[in-house]
This record gives sequence, structure tokens and C-alpha cells, in this order.
Amino acid sequence: MLSVFQAALDCLLIADPRNKCESVFALQQRFHAEKIDLANTIDVSSIITPGRPELPKLVPPQQVPKRKLATEEGRIALIHAIAHIEFNAINLALDAMLRFQDMPNEYYQDWMRVAFEEAQHFTMLQKRLQQFGYNYGDFDAHNGLWEMAMKTRDSVIARMALVPRVLEARGLDVTPGMIKRLENCKDFETVEILKIIFEQEIGHVAIGSRWFKYACERIDLDPEETFQELLKKYMSGELRGPFEIDARKKAGFSSIELQALQNV
Ligand SMILES: [Fe+2]
Repeated sequence: MLSVFQAALDCLLIADPRNKCESVFALQQRFHAEKIDLANTIDVSSIITPGRPELPKLVPPQQVPKRKLATEEGRIALIHAIAHIEFNAINLALDAMLRFQDMPNEYYQDWMRVAFEEAQHFTMLQKRLQQFGYNYGDFDAHNGLWEMAMKTRDSVIARMALVPRVLEARGLDVTPGMIKRLENCKDFETVEILKIIFEQEIGHVAIGSRWFKYACERIDLDPEETFQELLKKYMSGELRGPFEIDARKKAGFSSIELQALQNV
């Protein structure tokens, strides 16, 4: 039997990126091969930082270096920034499994798949950085994703709304533009990676939408109204468009929610 919560915690706490990815790949295999145990719950209230390497140095968002894609260094900084998002996304998927221990079996299957794909994304980007002679950790980065995970650690509804459906969904809006700019720079290898990531991220946000709706309906909340209230509570004045409407529809946003995003 696979003790899901303990296994997710073990992976979350691994600091070395390569080890973490390999452990996530192994855990994904066990999910397919073994019976899943969700009965052994564990207390995670003391877990407030995930495992991560000493570098990158975490700095306020304003201090993260600006990226001019026309230069090779700018492109490398962009690849690094996305690698950082993917590294965080592994932890966020593991934390979604671990933090909310009263969800149906498929919830854990879904987030396991996300953790697995995020580890693949990170691995591809780390390889790309190495082709340029760099490594994950070589540029400063910010901690906004994990901070939002901690702000929403007591509510699966708030977590699903704010982390996959707001912060990670931002990737759906900005990635097509990045792909175009990288095509202009003729960096087709990075373009190929971003195309894979973009398609899979739609699925990840859709998983967020699925479980957001489930968690709302479980306690008789209207998902669309609840999403709007959470946007106002957590993101007032901080949401940035424009939004990639097609990708967001595929990821489970309703017309009312898309309207709400534009009005926050
Ligand atoms: Fe990803």
C-alpha cells in the first residue's frame, strides 16, 4: 500500500532539484502499480517551507532581473524564470496532495500527474540552461507562488482558486507571446519546450477548475460567485491581463468567470 500523504511529504521536503524530480517520477510509478492508502492522514500544520536548494536567492518581485529577449543572456534569464516556476509547481502539486487530506481518490491521481509533468518541465528547462552553460540557481527569483500556497493552506477552495486558477493560469496568457518572441530570435529548441509546457499547463489549470468546482459544490457554494469573491479578497488591483480566452476556456473558466477576471 502506498501511503500517499507521507510519500508526498517526503518528496516535498527534498531540496535537491534532481533528486526531487527523480523521486516524483518514482512516486508516479508507484501510483500506477500499488494500492493507494488515504486513511493514514498526517499533521502538516508545521510544514511552511518546502525543500529547495540554497540557490536561487529569493528576492522581492521588483528585484528580479528584467529580461530582454534580444540578448542571449536575456533569453537564458527567461528560461531560468520559467524553470523556477516549474520547480515551484512541483512543490505546489505535492502540497495540494498533502495539505488537503479529505478529497476523493481521483484528486490525488490528478495532482500526482501534475507533479510528474511539472518535474518533466523542470528537467527539460534545466537541460536547456545547461546547454547555455548555466544552471538552475544562477539568477535571483521570487517566492510569490509558494507564498500564495501558504496564504491558502487552510482552504482547498481558496487554494484551487488562487494557485492553479489565478497564478499558474497566468502562464496560459503569457506563453504564446513568449513563443512568438523566441521564434523571432530563432531559439527553436526553447520554443519546442514551451509548446509542450503550454499544452500540459492547460490540463493542470483544468484540474484546478475541476476540484475548485467540486469543493464548492460539496458545501453548497456557487463556484462562479465564490471565485469572484476570492479574486476580490486576494487579488484586488493585482490581476493583470490580457487573458488568453481560448486557453482559459479549455482550462475550465466559464464566461462569467472570464468577465470577472477582467473586472477585478
Ligand atoms: Fe509546468
